[in-house]
Amino acid sequence: MAEVVIVADRDEAGRLVANEIARLVRSNPQTVLGLATGSTPLPVYQALRESLEGVDVSHVRGFALDEYVGIDPAHHESYRSVITREVVEPLGLTPENINVPNGAVEGIEHAGADYEERIIAAGGIDLQILGIGTDGHIGFNEPGSSFASRTRVKTLTEQTRSDNARFFDSKDEVPVHCITQGLGTILRARHLVLLAFGEGKADAVAAAVEGAVSALVPGSAIQLHEHVTVVVDEAAASKLSRADYYKYAWANKPAWQGI
Ligand code: PGA
Repeated sequence: MAEVVIVADRDEAGRLVANEIARLVRSNPQTVLGLATGSTPLPVYQALRESLEGVDVSHVRGFALDEYVGIDPAHHESYRSVITREVVEPLGLTPENINVPNGAVEGIEHAGADYEERIIAAGGIDLQILGIGTDGHIGFNEPGSSFASRTRVKTLTEQTRSDNARFFDSKDEVPVHCITQGLGTILRARHLVLLAFGEGKADAVAAAVEGAVSALVPGSAIQLHEHVTVVVDEAAASKLSRADYYKYAWANKPAWQGI
């Protein structure tokens, strides 16, 4: 079962996850992080500024979950730009160590396999940060994605394009295609940390954590992984039937276990 940690707010979630990442980086300077975009992981990146203070991060490596296809990498909302702005620059990571799927139209048919090879060459992802879409997607694996899928091109749902329109001038500007790590790729990371905040995510969180394992809810793939931490605020946890148990288990968790 995924461990569910119900926190007071985004800041507490950010500190919890950032402390775990800092612990990993101290024990292995070459830690490989799986980086998510969107608004959800921002408190983690914010908290990392403090948690990683004084820690040598020059050898930390990173792999973004996804990228839009056909977007100029220099575009403000390309995930290359977002990761550079939110993660690489503020934390002082080495830009050459940070990978984002190549969304250029030219050569896109090989971009997925290339990305998989790079992840394998890095020794796999130690800790993968995940958000979840209102339709249950993780990465850009929309409902119906195979649990065995690898990095590949997907077509975004209209729902996702509407959800992401807030980052663009209009929904029409949101690309139709993306390239995303597959569910099978994500499941190979050694530790999955899924965060969600707000009532709008409550249904998706409940379906992913407690619902049937189904391709219709890509987030439910986390139930197949041996080490998952779901970090949610009260609102995002509001539809979990076993919330009381999760709180009880967290309150009684032996300190040596960490997350
Ligand atoms: P959000 O997106 O963090 O901006 O809510 C999550 C997602 O779509 O995976």
